Amino acid sequence: MRSSPTSGLVNWPRVTDVNSDLVVELVELGLERREARWLVEEFVPGGDLDAIVALRLAATRRLEGEPLQYIIGHWPFRSLDLDVDERVLIPRPETEELVEVAMRELARLDVSAPLILDLGCGSGAIGLSLLDELRSRGIAASLVAVDESRDALAVARRNALKHHLHSVSFVQSSWFEDIDVELLGRFELIVSNPPYVGERELKDLDPVLGYEPHGALVAPDASGVAGFDDLATIIAHAPRWLKPGGVLVCEHGDRQRAAVLDASVAAGFDAHDIDDMAGHPRILVARR
Ligand SMILES: C[S@@+](CC[C@H](N)C(=O)[O-])C[C@H]1O[C@@H](n2cnc3c(N)ncnc32)[C@H](O)[C@@H]1O
Repeated sequence: MRSSPTSGLVNWPRVTDVNSDLVVELVELGLERREARWLVEEFVPGGDLDAIVALRLAATRRLEGEPLQYIIGHWPFRSLDLDVDERVLIPRPETEELVEVAMRELARLDVSAPLILDLGCGSGAIGLSLLDELRSRGIAASLVAVDESRDALAVARRNALKHHLHSVSFVQSSWFEDIDVELLGRFELIVSNPPYVGERELKDLDPVLGYEPHGALVAPDASGVAGFDDLATIIAHAPRWLKPGGVLVCEHGDRQRAAVLDASVAAGFDAHDIDDMAGHPRILVARR
């Protein structure tokens, strides 16, 4: 299952004494204290009247169920503060773990200037984090960031500019379909957090997911497995785009481990699968 976007609310900001009355007001309206603190810190650093009106509007949106991340319009993800809005999935903590795994795989490959493909880039969370973290280690990587959604690509582009990450090409494509064939066999790393929730599963998940783009969450069933179709496509086609020794790192649903491993073996990969911090099957590592 995909986690709720609120599962990542851990490091809330500090609130000054001046604003603590506003926090109390929002808690009395029904907000959780940590979310009230976040909204106050975001909207009322100076405490003028306009800011307080904006804060109360934001609190109303939150009380109506809208995710906090869309209301404040940005969210921390590893080393980056990413702009997020209703055009993109809110990046999740388990996807931060995927980035960690991908960094380990790149360290194992020990390439001086890796070429990375991020399939279904959304806000750019995975690919841009990798570029940023590699840059801080003195490694100049290049990224091809793909999404089917023109709207998502606009958000990812803005995040790349915000963080001065310039070695990125953005491609509107359904998975590999419209990627330049010159890039066949050229990637050291392919990363993806594709849609992997089955249509019938969605109704049992946190209703807050209803605010996120349906096309970012839900995939058709395949091989008798709910929500597996996009993962199946990516795993089947990835080997042609990887260099020999290159690696595919993919997030998947907690009931999809057997399916991703079977599909990886069928595609000729040497594959293993890793649990997330919550102990759920989550990250496929498939080496060509
Ligand atoms: C689960 S979201 C992941 C977003 C981002 N990578 C992250 O981890 O936060 C999946 C993304 O895949 C994109 N997507 C869905 N179907 C696609 C397709 N056929 N080809 C390319 N991208 C697709 C969606 O638009 C969405 O941005």
